[in-house]
Amino acid sequence: MNKVILAYSGGLDTSVAIQWLREKYNLDIIALTVNLGNMSDLESIRQKALDIGAIKAIAIDATSSFIESYVFPALQANAIYEDEYPLACALGRPLIAQLMVKAAHDEGAAIVAHGCTGKGNDQVRLDVSISALDPKLKIVTPAREWNMTREQTIAYAQTHGIPVPITKSSPYSIDENLWGRAIECGVLENPWSEPPRDVFAWTKPIEETPDIANYVEINFSRGIPTGLNGKEMNPVKLVQTLHETAGQHGIGRIDHIENRIVGIKSREIYEAPAAIVLVTAHRALEQLVLSKEQLCFKSMVANEYAELIYNGLWFTGIRQNLAAFVTSSQEYVSGTVKIKLFKGNCQVVGRKSPYSLYDYNLATYDEGDTFTPSDATGFIHIWSLPVKTQAQAQMPPHERR
Ligand code: ARG
Repeated sequence: MNKVILAYSGGLDTSVAIQWLREKYNLDIIALTVNLGNMSDLESIRQKALDIGAIKAIAIDATSSFIESYVFPALQANAIYEDEYPLACALGRPLIAQLMVKAAHDEGAAIVAHGCTGKGNDQVRLDVSISALDPKLKIVTPAREWNMTREQTIAYAQTHGIPVPITKSSPYSIDENLWGRAIECGVLENPWSEPPRDVFAWTKPIEETPDIANYVEINFSRGIPTGLNGKEMNPVKLVQTLHETAGQHGIGRIDHIENRIVGIKSREIYEAPAAIVLVTAHRALEQLVLSKEQLCFKSMVANEYAELIYNGLWFTGIRQNLAAFVTSSQEYVSGTVKIKLFKGNCQVVGRKSPYSLYDYNLATYDEGDTFTPSDATGFIHIWSLPVKTQAQAQMPPHERR
């Protein structure tokens, strides 16, 4: 029989996929479970795959590489999709694709499979990434082919003795990893409905947050967060700690009507406390150490970078080109940012860096001023030259009134 590597989360859809791939295509299934910081019990997921009929089940904890090689580069770029979404799911897909392709090579499989539906972004991201890494692999996508409703999937599972989690009553579709949590479906499909409280798992409602603010100091080295409150911390621990602390204060809830790759507008709720805090802090540090021109250009790059991550184009030349710019822009982005967490707000209240471009003696209105205001007269004369010239030649009469 032919072997297939199936990306297996342990959830209902991919569990049903094991049975379905065997029945429909007569394949030997090797389940591959990739933990990106969202799974607590890898071993029981592995066992479940074997119980349902996989011939082999592999589990990989890729949390650190996810944060170090995908999340932090995106943070250095300040990549946020449509000014809202810190791209948690989107950043995970190229890594999952990479591990699927590697497993296929290791196991001698010519086919890979995943459980994405035909309406979402993730099918695009996985398929594009897999084909970039090995165009010869055949991609099979059960959920895209079988077209079952949720009820039908559950019925199929029950007839085949596949355990259906009790949480099947949850009307939501949830995807999460260490960078964030995404929730859609159910009442959330009405953009006018306020998300019910059971949608959230990482963040407190503002009504229940502490009445005392929490201050956090974040250290950065070349745009990479390296410690909290003066204590060095590894990337995974740092992100986990910030989720906890900021989530307590109701920070990190995002309600986004987003434009999917496949042309659909969809409503997604996200929880990403650490992402909100880190991007806010990182930007604040950049304001201190980058020039106006660097900041300006970099914000265009941020937008492009976010688009290409969202659109599944991680393994492309343009991503490498932008990453090279971002890396070089981070040379002096080292220092500390002080953040105040309170009632859903993440406020920058202080920043410092050995490479700061902020010059007190130039900025001050107090004693010690080294700026010569009389120089401004000549400067403004020249600055206004083209404005005056154009106004005289072209200004419409109604503007002159
Ligand atoms: N809309 C997000 C993205 O495209 C998340 C996709 C998965 N969401 C979910 N609730 N299952 O990256």
